[in-house]
Amino acid sequence: MGEYKNLEIRQEENIGWIIINRPDKLNALNQETIKELHKAFSSFQDDSRIKAVLLKGSGEKAFVAGADIKELSGLDSSSGKKYVLEGQELMSLIENFRKPVIAAVNGYALGGGTELALACHIRIASDNAKMGQPEVKLGLIPGFGGTQRLPRLVGKGVAMEMILSGKTINAQEALRIGLVNKVVSQEELIPTCEALAREIIAGGPKAVEYCIKSINKGLDRPLDEGLLLEAELFGEVCSTQDSKEGTKAFLEKRKPEFQGR
Ligand code: COA
Repeated sequence: MGEYKNLEIRQEENIGWIIINRPDKLNALNQETIKELHKAFSSFQDDSRIKAVLLKGSGEKAFVAGADIKELSGLDSSSGKKYVLEGQELMSLIENFRKPVIAAVNGYALGGGTELALACHIRIASDNAKMGQPEVKLGLIPGFGGTQRLPRLVGKGVAMEMILSGKTINAQEALRIGLVNKVVSQEELIPTCEALAREIIAGGPKAVEYCIKSINKGLDRPLDEGLLLEAELFGEVCSTQDSKEGTKAFLEKRKPEFQGR
């Protein structure tokens, strides 16, 4: 797995770890790292041994301190749009990933770092985490989905305040507004994320995949259309082997053995 310059990839049982590894730049996302993340997520998507993906930054100081400001400084209107479209493509790949993706927010998650965490399905932060969308301070706007996913997660008013002020919030404030699901000590961060991943993995993989799809695709639709989508996906899930096994195992008072089919 030595094919990445800016990432460390690890597999522990059926959990895949992606660690962004540019600690001297606080794991800032340059274009090369964005491409590598795309490649790493794609390979985990296709790897049937991997059931969940955990994402963190290397070192104890930062998850990701943002998009690489050195690269941002040279953009014009056409290269700027292209740049963010590529970043957005990565975020959408993560958001629509068929397996659960958990962000272990282990320090600064600013700008593109908050946006990367927002694209993950669940966010767990260590108590030293600092989050925010400071782009206005650079004369820019968020471009990797911040103006879209942040208001959807924490509500319009709170997102407006964060994005317009560019302020950095601490882990407790991120928890209070619902930007992260949980805050733990730095030592507990990895075990907590792994325990949650294992809890999710214990369910039927196909069911987990369809839950992600139903929530993601349903949330922006009117309720009646979202409910119809849920009904359609429920119907599809009923024809999977996992649903037959899960219900049969319950009735036979034994543990299910899901195959992910
Ligand atoms: N892009 C490029 N390089 C970055 C970076 C980013 N987003 N964030 C940090 N770095 C680099 C610094 O330039 C510095 O590099 P150097 O040692 O070659 O000078 C190195 O990472 C360490 O950062 P430094 O600023 O010295 O650490 P600090 O502890 O004093 O401050 C932060 C930490 C996170 C408060 C500060 O780095 C910062 O404000 N970063 C930018 C955050 C931001 O605006 N992100 C949004 C971008 S859209």
